[in-house]
Amino acid sequence: MNRTGATRSPHVVDPQPSVSAIKPFRRLWIALWLSSLGHWLSVPALAALAGTVTRDQALPARAQAIAGVLALMALPAVLLGPAAGALAARLDRRLVMIAADVLRFALILSVPLVGALPWTLAAAFLVGCATALWIPAMGAALPALVPEEYGEDARRSALRGAYGSAPVAAVLFAVLALIAGAAFGVAERADLPLYVTAVVFLAAAGATFAVGEVPATPAGPSPLQLVFRGQRRTGDRPVAGAHAAGPVRGLGLAGVIIALTAAAVFAVARLYARDLGGGDAGYGSVLAGLATGTALGLFLGPRLLTPLSRRRVTGLATITTALALVLVALVQNLVVVVFLTAFLGLAAGVAWSVGVRLAGDQPDDRARTFAVLRSLALVTGLIAVAAVPLLAGLIGDHRLSLGDAAYTIGGPGVALLIIAVLSLPAALVAYRKLDDRRGIPLAADLSAALAGHTYVPPEQAKAGPAVIRNRGVFIAFEGGEGAGKTTQARLAAIWLRDHGYDVIATHEPGATKIGMRLRAMLLDRETTGLSPRAETLLYAADRADHVANVIRPALDRGSIVVSDRYVDSSLAYQGFGREQDVSEIARVNGWAIGGLLPDLTVLLEVPPDTGLGRLVSPADRIESEPHEFHERVRQGFRALADADPDRYLVLDASRPHAEITREIQYRIREILPDPIPAGTEDVTSTFPAIRD
Ligand code: TYD
Repeated sequence: MNRTGATRSPHVVDPQPSVSAIKPFRRLWIALWLSSLGHWLSVPALAALAGTVTRDQALPARAQAIAGVLALMALPAVLLGPAAGALAARLDRRLVMIAADVLRFALILSVPLVGALPWTLAAAFLVGCATALWIPAMGAALPALVPEEYGEDARRSALRGAYGSAPVAAVLFAVLALIAGAAFGVAERADLPLYVTAVVFLAAAGATFAVGEVPATPAGPSPLQLVFRGQRRTGDRPVAGAHAAGPVRGLGLAGVIIALTAAAVFAVARLYARDLGGGDAGYGSVLAGLATGTALGLFLGPRLLTPLSRRRVTGLATITTALALVLVALVQNLVVVVFLTAFLGLAAGVAWSVGVRLAGDQPDDRARTFAVLRSLALVTGLIAVAAVPLLAGLIGDHRLSLGDAAYTIGGPGVALLIIAVLSLPAALVAYRKLDDRRGIPLAADLSAALAGHTYVPPEQAKAGPAVIRNRGVFIAFEGGEGAGKTTQARLAAIWLRDHGYDVIATHEPGATKIGMRLRAMLLDRETTGLSPRAETLLYAADRADHVANVIRPALDRGSIVVSDRYVDSSLAYQGFGREQDVSEIARVNGWAIGGLLPDLTVLLEVPPDTGLGRLVSPADRIESEPHEFHERVRQGFRALADADPDRYLVLDASRPHAEITREIQYRIREILPDPIPAGTEDVTSTFPAIRD
């Protein structure tokens, strides 16, 4: 009983409350957010300090210092991943996290106090080690705090916390750099962000301490192991089947490009910002642009241009990322660069989020494909972070001036340009490998997607997906109500059997056990208010089951399948009749039937009034539709047949039955494997069933 006194129906299930309603989870999530904030702050703060202590040296030295800090921070995650994971698994997770946070607090605090490059580099590496310990401990602790059904929610929420803190950190860093720049001298202005970072880590340790017991789970393989084992078979569990190799390679390449471009910007941001006349605040702004754009892209990706092929979106976003890098490198204005960096982040975020979901679609081993993708990106990112500033340093301070124009571009800009020029053709290759709609013009596809629907080329909208050849023969009978197709389909089946063929006579909807239940729902006049889309999907579900359990197995055996109605009924009734987008119905059904089309479709044409007048049993839900509906259905069938005349036999159903039967046999004979010649039949007259 609830408060109003009404008893609750046992079938009413309360929606699952959000994972954040679980108290220990919420507490640990706060700790995660703080610790991640500290991490994202520590990266630019340490890089800025490395830049500050080497400020009087030439570009190569400054570049090496910054590259060293960034690479040393990221290195432990890649190298020590498995060892750190195994160690963290043996120890108390909560203690590991607290120790890692306290260690990072102490290290970060020591850096401005010592104020020397060697210690900054050592501290960067040690901070990276602490982070490498903290990540698996937190990764295992969060899901361990929630019941199993919350596992996915917990994982997502953790990701949001871990990456959502990055834009906040970048903005905070920019603000701190501004304040420090105004308040302190050149030598000390990098200190303030470091002190704040240290305090954030201390707060994270406190927040973790406040969480109670944390249970344990085992650790996974390291990123490097995954990259090297990646595409190979491990035991009998392939990473991806041979059929999926193309998209998996395309995805891998896209992942590498995204990581390369984003990491390149990230790594030279400080040098570049300085080149463009900005200080640490400018550096922070570039990072804030990158982080905010990426966060937005990750969020928008799955929602963007949903009618467009996901693979095309991934490929396009990857190309856009590379193009954005060209602009970032060429436009020598800090404010514009901040916006362009945000745009680059946006494209990279979209490519990543959509690509990762594609990796999840790989049938054989989604977790592994995803892990390989992530590891590829991580390793590429690490290499880029170390190499790109060094490249900028190698190119040096020599400025490239174009003619008399004031346009100059320094080492960091040239380094970015080189990465962009390398990435662009690679991105085009990735797009081609990913493209699952070759031959369909991108412009048409895009403009249809912008208008909210999927572009279907005229020939495909009519004929549906490509015909897949079978060993057997597939014949469908179609037509409006009372056209006599059920009778003609049966006669054809009998005739074929008499010719010695193995024949399966079947129908839609309702040829399978599940199908019968769907049929009852679909045709019962008691079913009211069924939306056209739901109706479409129910017919498609019946058809999918029909194909999988009846038609496809029979064709594989080499039988002849004669079906009373098939996919054209949905195009005609749910498409034309219900006035829905026919290309969409074709798409849904193309997926449901796995591209299986009949070798021949016999269409029996009859005016709706004549056909409906022939019905003897009470009208079902569809038959009770108004005259105009049935008229549209008839025209729809006609349009489908006109679009693909080779595959259709259109007959006027008002002609005498025997004549129709004869014409159908004549046409079927053309597609039969090894048919009995027509004359033989006439001479031997051994087919009494037909006459009867
Ligand atoms: P059914 O009793 O099989 O009649 P018919 O002899 O006309 O085939 O009923 C099937 C009904 O379902 C028919 O009115 C047409 C409708 N239908 C669709 O609307 N879409 C479809 O995809 C299919 C297969 C049938």
